Amino acid sequence: MSYNIALQFEDGVTRIIPCEANELVADAAYRAKINIPLDCRDGACGTCKCHCESGTFTMGDYIEDALADDEAAQGYVLTCQMKPTSDCVVRIPASSAACKTEVSTYAGRMARIARDSSTTVSFTLQAERPIAFLPGQYVNLLVPGSKETRSFSFSSAPNRTELAFLIRDVPNGMMSTYMRSKAQTDDFMMFSGPYGSFYLRPAVRPILMLAGGTGLAPFLSMLLWLKDNPTEQPILLGYGVNSNEDLVELGTLAELKSALPNFNFFTCVVDRESGHAKLGYVTEHLSPGDLRDGNVDVYVCGPPPMVEGVRKWMAGVGVTPKNFLFEKFSSANETAAVAA
Ligand SMILES: Cc1cc2nc3c(=O)[nH]c(=O)nc-3n(C[C@H](O)[C@H](O)[C@H](O)COP(=O)(O)OP(=O)(O)OC[C@H]3O[C@@H](n4cnc5c(N)ncnc54)[C@H](O)[C@@H]3O)c2cc1C
Ligand code: FES
Repeated sequence: MSYNIALQFEDGVTRIIPCEANELVADAAYRAKINIPLDCRDGACGTCKCHCESGTFTMGDYIEDALADDEAAQGYVLTCQMKPTSDCVVRIPASSAACKTEVSTYAGRMARIARDSSTTVSFTLQAERPIAFLPGQYVNLLVPGSKETRSFSFSSAPNRTELAFLIRDVPNGMMSTYMRSKAQTDDFMMFSGPYGSFYLRPAVRPILMLAGGTGLAPFLSMLLWLKDNPTEQPILLGYGVNSNEDLVELGTLAELKSALPNFNFFTCVVDRESGHAKLGYVTEHLSPGDLRDGNVDVYVCGPPPMVEGVRKWMAGVGVTPKNFLFEKFSSANETAAVAA
């Protein structure tokens, strides 16, 4: 039995490595040629201390000087003594360069491109082998014919060879122009990743997902993953857009609703002339009860003003959710996800 261990480095790079059930995480990293910080390898020095963000494991012998009880209670681990009993996400307190690993680079063949509406394009790349990532993460895609990259979140589930994306057509944008007028099936695209801290945490309490425009993409990935890994926690998705033509993937959402009995969603449109049943911003269609007195994990993804709008709304309601994670689809090529 082998588990997937996602090693998350300080610089946002994630490497996902296989670790056998009876193998130490430090040994699995070494096998994958990743030099995570190590010294004694005996549970004595504490050099290999990392934080386990999710997953279960057993720990071998170590001394209190290397890992104090209160640190262990907070989820810190010694990777030289850690054996996984499930898939795990482990945060490494070092950069990927310091650990002599690099972000992986891939090529994908354009298998499908759909100009879904005048504002949105969706496409699927066919990779040579399944790509491991955490649902909600993104890659940097090279704009063909240039040295520029743009970040895009997967809208498909992890560990597949077919990788789907959903992108907003920004007028005169480099990638947008390529996708709108040049991209064809069988084109090759290069990308690197996966990156980002905006990924689905273990579903231990109700989940509120708020998407603005193509900010829907990472939620599709999370929901498709949840379809294969069901939870009993209630999940509500609020999906807001500017105009009717921005509303996409409604069929996929309806299918997910049939497949996940505890999942519900609503859509809303800002344009008052749209005739949509719910008008305005997503926050106008939420009630304080949706924050469940703070016993909720809130995920928000979309343009920066939308993310700030949700933050302001929560402050106005006066409820702090247990976890608040967000990804701003800023035009800068950097990870904008922060957990608070
Ligand atoms: C972590 C991360 C994940 C992302 N994931 C997605 C995703 O899944 N889907 C998606 O559609 N986008 C996503 N984005 C945004 C995406 O990376 C690009 O910035 C965006 O698609 C524009 O790229 P472009 O090359 O077409 O435009 P550019 O050539 O970068 O920009 C051209 C012009 O448009 C302006 N501009 C750029 N972006 C916007 C915008 N969003 N709104 C208004 N004006 C803009 C710029 O200021 C510039 O003047 C993500 C961004 C980040 C940081
Ligand atoms: S390397 Fe010393 S405690 Fe793990």
